[in-house]
Amino acid sequence: MWDGYNRTIDYLRISVTDRCNFRCAYCMPPEGLITLNHDDILRYEELIRIIEVASSLGVKKIRLTGGEPLVRKGIVDFVRKVAAIENIEDLSMTTNGSLLSNVAHGLKEAGLNRVNISLDTADPDRFASITRRSELEATLQGIQSALDAGLTPLKINVALTGFFIPSDLDYFIDLVYQYPIHVRFIEYMPLGNCDVSPGPSIVNVKSTINDAGRGFLQPASTQERGNGPARYYQLPNAKGMFGFITPISEHFCGECNRIRLTADGKLKPCLLSNEEIDIKAHLRSGISDKRLAELFCQAIQAKPSSHSLCRVSGHPEFQRHMSQIGG
Ligand code: GTP
Ligand code: 5AD
Ligand code: SF4
Repeated sequence: MWDGYNRTIDYLRISVTDRCNFRCAYCMPPEGLITLNHDDILRYEELIRIIEVASSLGVKKIRLTGGEPLVRKGIVDFVRKVAAIENIEDLSMTTNGSLLSNVAHGLKEAGLNRVNISLDTADPDRFASITRRSELEATLQGIQSALDAGLTPLKINVALTGFFIPSDLDYFIDLVYQYPIHVRFIEYMPLGNCDVSPGPSIVNVKSTINDAGRGFLQPASTQERGNGPARYYQLPNAKGMFGFITPISEHFCGECNRIRLTADGKLKPCLLSNEEIDIKAHLRSGISDKRLAELFCQAIQAKPSSHSLCRVSGHPEFQRHMSQIGG
């Protein structure tokens, strides 16, 4: 599938729930958000049908997101069904990791290829301030279980907000030396009314890593760059690597390969736009696969050339928080 700007769209990110057992400060307001009713969330059978149609149109990669995808009951069986769909080559999940240790092996066996796990600091107090939960140990166990289960390449997402302090990097530098983990630093995207300030710049983080006395960052080979938004760098003799995701300072919209589906059945042409195409209502009124495919193509044609946060003239009030889209 090609969009209106000659980009190939082969990646669908599916938010399977808007619920989360964390309350990350950069993702939702402290009081949490009103969650969707059970009936408003796409059922697993509906999701399978959508993925089948998407796969027939050329989608090869599926990422399951949330909220927190592991809070949804039956997720392992759902993964098994998705993995069995023809042409799905990469099935991954973005998770906070806290519920992963009991299901990592089951997910791998069901056909999940890999996970990306959010971890902004290894300091228990700041972890609790950011996530508004004290589950650092559970998250660290989740990371270890994911490695043990072979849910790799394993990626850690570090959101760069005002909570971040330079000494957080000591832990992450040790981590990439010891384990084949990709640690990615992400510029904060201001969605919704989160009371969070942006953190240090990517340039700043890179120079702090370079100044840590463990060698200098070198761009990773093209093969290791992958086709996601991250740009990867290596330190000498480290098993893992660092990635930098710069939606604000250097957006990657020109290489965008993705479309999103929210838990309440809206296709989102762009993470940072309010435009949505409702497919749930159509699904529930007996739409044909052909018409569903047309709605998909319509959403892909609606992709903007770039997101609104990088335009000088300001951006719209975003209608959803990150937890209601899945990143
Ligand atoms: P990989 O395939 O493993 O590279 O996955 P990913 O990095 O695309 O997925 P993940 O869910 O781990 O997202 C990491 C960060 O990138 C999150 O903060 C997302 O919000 C952000 N991100 C992912 N896709 C996009 C995008 O299309 N636009 C913008 N602006 N940010 C994105
Ligand atoms: N800005 C940047 N990244 C964010 N994430 C969540 N909210 C934001 C935000 N406002 C990241 C988390 C998670 C991924 C899905 O999105 O790190 O891993
Ligand atoms: Fe939950 Fe992820 Fe949002 Fe944190 S970033 S509140 S773990 S959905």
